[in-house]
Amino acid sequence: MKRIIVTGCLGQIGSELVYRLRQEKGLDNVLATDIRKPEGHPVVEEGLFEVLDVLDEEKMLALATEFEADTMIHLASLLSSVAEDKPQIAWHINMSGLMNALEVSRKLNLQFFTPSSIGAFGPETPKINTPQDTLQRPKTMYGITKVAGELLCDYYHTKFGVDTRGVRFPGLISYDTLPGGGTTDYAVEIYYEALKNGSYVCPIGKGTVMDMMYMPDAINAIVDLMEAPEEQLIHRNAFNISAMSFDPEEIKESIQKVMPDFTMTYDVNPKLQGIADSWPDTLDCHVAKDEWQFSPIYDLDKMTVDMLEKLSIKLAKEN
Ligand code: SER
Repeated sequence: MKRIIVTGCLGQIGSELVYRLRQEKGLDNVLATDIRKPEGHPVVEEGLFEVLDVLDEEKMLALATEFEADTMIHLASLLSSVAEDKPQIAWHINMSGLMNALEVSRKLNLQFFTPSSIGAFGPETPKINTPQDTLQRPKTMYGITKVAGELLCDYYHTKFGVDTRGVRFPGLISYDTLPGGGTTDYAVEIYYEALKNGSYVCPIGKGTVMDMMYMPDAINAIVDLMEAPEEQLIHRNAFNISAMSFDPEEIKESIQKVMPDFTMTYDVNPKLQGIADSWPDTLDCHVAKDEWQFSPIYDLDKMTVDMLEKLSIKLAKEN
């Protein structure tokens, strides 16, 4: 991982991953891309940046060739809630975008990373300690694209020898860039609302447990997996990873330890609730621990303290 092209860089993961890679690998060794180019955005201004629609394979190939990339990190995709609203577009972006990124990686012999998700599981999957290798019959378009993506990445490895790697991310919580259109977004919004209003109306019902992770652990996971020696990996794509699992009451209580006056009520969104109910409660992550020593640092309370501190600095700057 020396010269890295990243797609979807203005998203929740991309904005923080690009910052870390630029720091570690050098500004000239990271080419950030996204379909938009917002003036003044640090991802656009502080290093190499090109506009790229991942549906444009020709441009993707040209950019990666000219940059002399050795690694592709493909992040551009639609998340679960928005994909349910636009299933045909979601299929197109998530699958054709992935196929293009894999084709460019095959042609240029790039090491490759793309995330899968807890969304790749469905209601028939064992919910507690969900195994690495298990039944996957998701009922959402997002989940269908994620399972197909996992299989496609495995295929590109076995058929063409592309060094494909990936994880199944749980809900990711961060203060830098908001997630867009996911089912686990409530666990980010709750911190914003706690600081802005002291209260939150939760769209996910009490008792709905989902896996989650704080962004610094997610970024470490990407870098650690990409740098793991190939001979250590039995699996390659779609490693289960998670740092914590909680329901809305538990995150509320964690916030109340820092902000005792914080309150929460419920107004359950049936679409989001249906998606959440079809996902696991807790993933079994031992395969990632065994094969590349995955070890997250943040639990719920540690994350809450850091999140509230960093987010209040950010919100103060914006005001
Ligand atoms: N955070 C994602 C979503 O909710 C799950 O991968 O869509």
